[in-house]
Amino acid sequence: SNGVLMNFKKAIASQLSQLTGEPETKALEYIELPPKKEFGQFAVIVPKLLANSRRGQRKKRKITKEKSASLEQHQPPYEPKNPTEYTKELAEKFQPDTFIADCTPLGTYLNFNIQRIELIRQVLDQVIREQTSYGTFPKYGEGRTVLIDFSSPNIAKPFHAGHLKSTILGSFLKRIHEALGYKTICVNYLGDWGKQYGLLAVGFNKFGSREQLLQNPVYHLYDVYVRICKEAGEDNSINEEANQCFKKMEDGDESVLTLWREFRELSITEYQSLYKRLNISFDIYSGESETHKDIPKVIDLLRAKGLLQQKDGSLYVDLEKYNLGSPVVKRHDETSLYITRDIAAAIDRKQKYNFDKMLYVVGVSQQVHFQRLFKILEILNSTEYDDINKQQENWANQLQHIHFGIINGMSTRKGTAVFLKDLLDNSQQHMLEIIKENEKKYQEIKEGANRMSLSSSSSPATPSSIDQQQQEDLDVLFPSGEAAAVKIADIVGISAVVIEDFSRDRQLDYDFSWKRMMDSHGNTGVFLQYAHARLNGQVIEEKADVKLNFSADPKFLKDPEAFELAFQIAQYPDTVLKSFDESQPRILTHYLFTLAHTISQAVRILRVKGMNQDLAESRLLLFWTAKLTMGNGLRLLGLKPLEKM
Ligand code: ARG
Repeated sequence: SNGVLMNFKKAIASQLSQLTGEPETKALEYIELPPKKEFGQFAVIVPKLLANSRRGQRKKRKITKEKSASLEQHQPPYEPKNPTEYTKELAEKFQPDTFIADCTPLGTYLNFNIQRIELIRQVLDQVIREQTSYGTFPKYGEGRTVLIDFSSPNIAKPFHAGHLKSTILGSFLKRIHEALGYKTICVNYLGDWGKQYGLLAVGFNKFGSREQLLQNPVYHLYDVYVRICKEAGEDNSINEEANQCFKKMEDGDESVLTLWREFRELSITEYQSLYKRLNISFDIYSGESETHKDIPKVIDLLRAKGLLQQKDGSLYVDLEKYNLGSPVVKRHDETSLYITRDIAAAIDRKQKYNFDKMLYVVGVSQQVHFQRLFKILEILNSTEYDDINKQQENWANQLQHIHFGIINGMSTRKGTAVFLKDLLDNSQQHMLEIIKENEKKYQEIKEGANRMSLSSSSSPATPSSIDQQQQEDLDVLFPSGEAAAVKIADIVGISAVVIEDFSRDRQLDYDFSWKRMMDSHGNTGVFLQYAHARLNGQVIEEKADVKLNFSADPKFLKDPEAFELAFQIAQYPDTVLKSFDESQPRILTHYLFTLAHTISQAVRILRVKGMNQDLAESRLLLFWTAKLTMGNGLRLLGLKPLEKM
């Protein structure tokens, strides 16, 4: 669904088109949001609108030759001698209607004020109609499948900041693709193969403890790995033993594979419970190990294309003419490399899932790796008939590396954040301390949480049709006592970490800071959760006096704060699209900051309690739509919106 703003833009465009003779679609394209509130809600720069259509043509490839010819021939009804005069003239001729209240000239700008109550009415209607679907576009990607490769940690190695970033960014990409109607397949491509797993097996036989393995697999395997690496540095026979062990793995020897499989499965189980805390799940846990059987086939394909070169017994692909060096694909001892396995995995995924798009969510340090991978696949998939047979698109073009910058100094109290669990526990701890600082709040949370009933969070019109999403939200309605506080602290703590990251351009590096991200006044996850929860508080507080009424009349919402809030809410669907187009959670996050500030302002001014019933009901309904929008936005970012905090 498109947002209601389109209706208002169309009203402007159709009149401007009549007055200037420019096509309506062109007028629509040049409508902007003015930089200041005083200028109204929309603006058009008149000279831009009248500018030679050729300029627009270069950007818009879709305009056909015939069309652009007719645009060039076209003469505006007025010869714009003086743009300022002409702008004034247009403003005078512009007629207010049910959508547009007035049009004023400012230099060569036309500024428009829309009909406020009409906007509020349309926004409320749409949100009531669509609820948790508000801001989704199910038709957009219908029938298309996107495969997203993200998180993908390495067994027995640190889960570093880059993995965290890939995890939350990948989860956002999954959700926003689903909001746009795509089918998503989420793949966790574990680093679970290679010589280091031979080393790990040798290490486990030396210092492993079954008990510790079962208790805390990720930590224990890392510990064993670090110790055996140290010994291997001093004693080369360990390396030889490890190589033999890995060779056995590659040969499919069950005596070594059983232990390896156990390491892998225990690690996955632990990751799963951590991902669950982050509200993330995967469709498939695959890994480099699974490409093993396809490696000979990949080598054959490369050879058949004439891509293989030999040097010192190893095989490489010469990509010098693309400035991508010469990646080795097979070592002299016959073992495969990271890139060889990625080639195999990509081909296998295309065959199995026939995706329309595949995203690799991995740090910028692997940019060259993915450029090489994509280039090799492009060459492998090209056919001699490409020129004639253009409709057969090369599927290498469907691959994208979604890369991101570095998070510096991410550390927990125990030291460098090597373990995701430590990071999540730390954020929970930090948050719990903050909650406990406010004795009153803490008591409230401990006592009050279980008083919340279903009716306050779901709509009265659909009491029996609680959808899965609402049910999930209700799971967040913790029991009571200390457990409630811990649960809230966990969710808010995670929100703080995620929003801190999402508030920036994904490509930029930044320094990790607990203090900054836990601030409830700044633009943080804490602030967003609070903006959401307080609207529910309002509902409960006022419940005795007013009930949520979907047919409350918006005509009572005359205050500027009410309009501002509705206007913000109206911008949500476009924001989702923009965030999607640029694969930038930052766009949605900043929108939610603005929405939260607008909510604060509105809550301060627009009292519900003690107002006459009409006014109270319409304000309550407006707050309900604001809460719904905030909730939809938080969920899209992967967070669980809190009903109380
Ligand atoms: N395991 C890799 C790492 O930790 C990331 C894997 C990314 N996905 C891929 N298909 N290469 O660096």
